[in-house]
Amino acid sequence: MNLNLDSKTAIVTGASRGIGLAIVKALVAEGVRVVGVARSVTPGLKDAGAIAVSADLGTAEGVTAAFDAAVSELGGIDLLVNNVGGGDLKVQGFLDTDDEQWAHLIDVNLLSTVRASRLALPSLIERKGAIVNISTVSARMPGLGPVAYASAKAAVTALSKALAEEFGPQGVRVNTVSPGFVRSSIYDSPDDFGGKIAAAFGMEIPTFFEQAPGALGVTTGRFVEPEEIATAVVFLLSAAAASITGADYVVDGGMLKAV
Ligand SMILES: NC(=O)c1ccc[n+]([C@@H]2O[C@H](COP(=O)([O-])OP(=O)(O)OC[C@H]3O[C@@H](n4cnc5c(N)ncnc54)[C@H](OP(=O)(O)O)[C@@H]3O)[C@@H](O)[C@H]2O)c1
Repeated sequence: MNLNLDSKTAIVTGASRGIGLAIVKALVAEGVRVVGVARSVTPGLKDAGAIAVSADLGTAEGVTAAFDAAVSELGGIDLLVNNVGGGDLKVQGFLDTDDEQWAHLIDVNLLSTVRASRLALPSLIERKGAIVNISTVSARMPGLGPVAYASAKAAVTALSKALAEEFGPQGVRVNTVSPGFVRSSIYDSPDDFGGKIAAAFGMEIPTFFEQAPGALGVTTGRFVEPEEIATAVVFLLSAAAASITGADYVVDGGMLKAV
């Protein structure tokens, strides 16, 4: 299948590792000129063939600085992937989640996407481009938690649909990809969320990886790989998906049981 992405330009946020880095690599492999943004420029991002930009996308100033740098490198934007997300996730319920934690998770997961989309849209309209926002299956199964994360991501899914409606007539497509459990540093680092869940259940990380898919009803019996999310994202950005907009693609190994 020819995806016709050759010579397009793209910004990918949260690009230094995990799903974002896999998306950068997949786009570069299709001939796209990519700016990858994260706070740190990792060796993986340096080697991926993208232009690396360092910025904190949890602040308005950071998003603006990243876009200024990206536009001066690329000239204009055909494709935007709002992948940055997660943040300082804690194993906690609603009553333990204070305003500071709500504000942090809304900044990183929702407002990063709002601000980046606002800055990119004039160029996307001019070039009839496309956006993919990375949400999560927890947006549809919010009881999985953490509650502030699931709520912020549910807002990302709703925002995507609203942008698809508003800007579709001007030629811009907007879709969401909602991953299930993906083998990235969120889950395989002892200091990140997976490590905290494993510790809460008194498990080592390898035991967590072995048991979590079965315990969570993942039909394929394994975590999703970042490259499998990237494949869905690249397809949705391409001309092959020209009639797909306002959709939410769930890539979760069958974890979501509702139709
Ligand atoms: N992994 C999963 O199971 C899963 C499931 C559902 C949805 N998702 C979503 O998928 C997306 C990617 O997650 P991932 O699993 O690939 O996570 P990850 O491995 O932790 O990567 C997160 C990326 O975002 C960057 N980042 C984080 N905070 C940032 C900030 N304030 N400013 C700029 N960059 C920032 C990180 O780089 P720096 O730290 O260098 O800034 C890194 O490149 C997120 O939106 C997440 O919510 C993940």
